[in-house]
Amino acid sequence: MRLGPIIPCELFGRVQICPVQRVIEIDSTSSTVRPVPVTPAGDVIISIEELAAIQQQMVIVIACMNEDDSVIEGVLSGIPGGCLVIIVSNSDRGLDDKYAAEVRVLSQFCKETQRAAMIIHQQDLEAADAFRKAGMPELVSSAGTIYPGKGEAMIIGMALAALTGRKYIGYVDADNFVPGSVNEYCKVFAAGLYAAKSPRAMVRISWNSKPKIRDGRIHFDKRGRSSRVVNEWFNKLLNEYTDHLNSELIVTGNAGEHAMTLELGLKLRLAGGYAIEPYELLNILEQYGKSSTRPGAPLSRVSTGASGFMANPSVPTMASPPSLKRSDSGIVQVLQIQTRNPHFHESKGEGHVRRMQLQGLNVLYHSPLTPKALRAELAKFMEDQDDLLNGERPPCAQIYPPVGTLDFGVFFDLLTANSTSFRQFLTASMPPQASLISRP
Ligand code: GDP
Ligand code: CO
Repeated sequence: MRLGPIIPCELFGRVQICPVQRVIEIDSTSSTVRPVPVTPAGDVIISIEELAAIQQQMVIVIACMNEDDSVIEGVLSGIPGGCLVIIVSNSDRGLDDKYAAEVRVLSQFCKETQRAAMIIHQQDLEAADAFRKAGMPELVSSAGTIYPGKGEAMIIGMALAALTGRKYIGYVDADNFVPGSVNEYCKVFAAGLYAAKSPRAMVRISWNSKPKIRDGRIHFDKRGRSSRVVNEWFNKLLNEYTDHLNSELIVTGNAGEHAMTLELGLKLRLAGGYAIEPYELLNILEQYGKSSTRPGAPLSRVSTGASGFMANPSVPTMASPPSLKRSDSGIVQVLQIQTRNPHFHESKGEGHVRRMQLQGLNVLYHSPLTPKALRAELAKFMEDQDDLLNGERPPCAQIYPPVGTLDFGVFFDLLTANSTSFRQFLTASMPPQASLISRP
């Protein structure tokens, strides 16, 4: 894969947010032919071998809820062979047990491809109990089940991923209609995580287009409506903390498809429902955006020479191509990468778009990083949109403790002993008693 240059533009404390990079070639010449990983122009080339090595260390979590089996099967077909799949389902389990059908689809896929995978249901009472006893009672409702919501499903996926010993986690929606897009997302995850210099890195996908059908014609809309609004407010927030105004730095506030190092993911507080994606970015800034020399400041303001951290808006030059050498400098890197394939997914209607937007804006409103004046401006915007009544405060999303605070030994013991929905599919070459997860 060939990506456009990583431009290390903005540093907020220890957080480096890179402007969007393009995928230039989905498949590029291997490094044995072209040994230079970074070209003079700054393009990053990641060979097939290097992508495969990262994918061998990556878990892909698919959160699903009542998608068609054929769509899920298509998504599975797009996930590169080295990645370990974990499905977290919140599908109906009535007379027509959708979950049982998903288990069959995954089992069949694993048998055909000789791949290993895991699946679990979100309303598994024993899984909820494992979370409660392992130190995350916040995730469990008074009915004894894990709360519904995409964020909650992603938390379950991350806890399981942590038990696999793999280094990276990526998230892919189950309602992707185009398996080729899924394949590109996973390659981009691997390429971005390879290219990132820091062991604390996140790659967020900015899809090329989100096609809609209007008047019988396909329109390749560039931005979803909710994304446009959430990104705009994200950028307003960041511009409170920088002298290098870039009102379009954040293009992935709502990125459903994204990946990160588990080293980073396990430290983040995650939000429930659809607030999870914008809140991940916000929480990175809340935790790592502080300047060590200015403890009072919520985010360190970026200005040349300030507190040892500098914005570096320069594009890599011929004289000094950036290297891909890893360094544990404590920087958290956020890459935003625009894919080539369109994001074709199930359209869930106007109400759904509004809900996503509202949940994104709510976390921005409540963040301690948001200055008072901006908060008031945001509340006014939400009132004008009829999302808030005059003077009403937006509801606060559920914010969970970091998954890394779980007692993983307790979680593993209870889950493997008691869970009724958790299934693992092994390859024929693995002993029948083998497990994809282990007690840490
Ligand atoms: P959008 O694509 O951002 O508009 O959001 P979607 O509603 O399509 O959700 C993205 C993915 O998350 C889909 O695959 C959904 O099935 C899944 N999802 C949404 N809510 C839940 C939930 O409560 N639990 C689980 N397990 N998955 C969910
Ligand atoms: Co969707």
